[in-house]
Amino acid sequence: MSTELADSLVSPAVHADEDRIHALFSELRRTSPVHWTQPVDYRPFWALTRHADIMEVSRKNDVFINSRRLNLMTRAQEAAAKKSGGKYARMYRTVAHMDNPDHREYRRVTAEWFMGPGVRKFEAAVAALAEESLDHIATFGGAPFDYAREVANLFPLRVIMSILGVPREDQPLMLRLTQEFFGADDADLGGDGAREGDDAGRRFDLLQQFFDYFTAMAADRRKSPRDDLATVIACGRPYDGPMGDLETASYYAVIATAGHDTTAAVTAGGLLALLENPDQWQKLRADPEKIKSAVEEMLRWVSPVKHFLRTAREDYRLGDTTIAAGDGVALFYPSANRDDAVFTDPFRFDIERTPNRHLAFGFGGHMCLGLSLARLELTTFLRAFVRRVDRIEPAGEPQRIHANLVGGFKALPVRIGLVH
Ligand code: HEM
Repeated sequence: MSTELADSLVSPAVHADEDRIHALFSELRRTSPVHWTQPVDYRPFWALTRHADIMEVSRKNDVFINSRRLNLMTRAQEAAAKKSGGKYARMYRTVAHMDNPDHREYRRVTAEWFMGPGVRKFEAAVAALAEESLDHIATFGGAPFDYAREVANLFPLRVIMSILGVPREDQPLMLRLTQEFFGADDADLGGDGAREGDDAGRRFDLLQQFFDYFTAMAADRRKSPRDDLATVIACGRPYDGPMGDLETASYYAVIATAGHDTTAAVTAGGLLALLENPDQWQKLRADPEKIKSAVEEMLRWVSPVKHFLRTAREDYRLGDTTIAAGDGVALFYPSANRDDAVFTDPFRFDIERTPNRHLAFGFGGHMCLGLSLARLELTTFLRAFVRRVDRIEPAGEPQRIHANLVGGFKALPVRIGLVH
């Protein structure tokens, strides 16, 4: 594959162009599914585009580790991080950055809460926030508005903040920090669009703001425990000892960021899919029993997380290719979710698709910790939407965020008529 194609595969702008990126993924799945990729500005890596290969690597957590290189960063960013003398690493160490045994111990701190009773306790609060979103839609009275800004970005933010215990008045700050942190490639969101060294400096500043906010929150919960996730984290005991400040603040920061933009992207992208496939919208309205499978299809269709990286700890034979110890491996989830070896007619948006073994949440030991919460949010929201909405229409060109890590929408102009 040419350098130009390698550059496209890492380009935030290309990831925001669904037709281009999926044409590239389809070609790679067909001709070179385990592909040595050498973009000009990035260290080389193996690009994995097939569902089966991504699953195989994701489940081998002892061979393919997270701690060395988690996401695609330009050489300039990596150099800036190095020059800072490990400042970045000292400021941000989440479960996603860890390997076993630390990963097991730190994930255990919240896993039980996320997988069951903790999330269930918030069902009523999530439903109330979904109704509030629909009330807000009603205020536009069928006139055009930006669904991304007014609805999709706010609902998941409010859910995750109420779960973490962040008060409403601090939520605009959180929204700005998460959008800038993830959208740092996009000039419209405050990024320089080029990911040069300065950009790394800006990320440090954002992290510092998260860090200060959450360190204060942890101190408060240790002093006065409450019935919230912030307390579960502040009082967590990995290896039967207290959590360090770095790990505590990083835990809050990863939940605030990972729990918001991803779900917002599916809330907006799911509506866009319904706008583009009116037969599916009619089907959903006629039979709300299809909400669960519709949400799974929206997750597959949107695949907001574009990639994660692993590093091979030893030589590994993947199909016909030997991945050498030390090589980086990029798992391109949106590509896995269009693989025709697994999905019949993968470019068709089908709310009744079964089975739907999508990899939007990843797979294996690092599989998304918040997936039950994300599913609860998306099904609760869609239930309220289907019950109260009568008519949906596009009202302008959608604009996607330029990002090669977590995608989403800058704008999604729509007209929505509610049931009277
Ligand atoms: C539609 C919504 C979401 C999507 C598509 C999504 C996707 C993902 C993906 C692809 C990964 C990496 C998995 C892997 O490496 O195998 C991940 C990890 C993670 N997600 Fe999510 N996520 C979503 C929502 C959430 C929410 C709501 C939270 C928390 C409240 C959350 C917290 C996390 C955490 C903490 C990790 C790291 C887990 C680990 O390394 O052990 N995510 N997510």
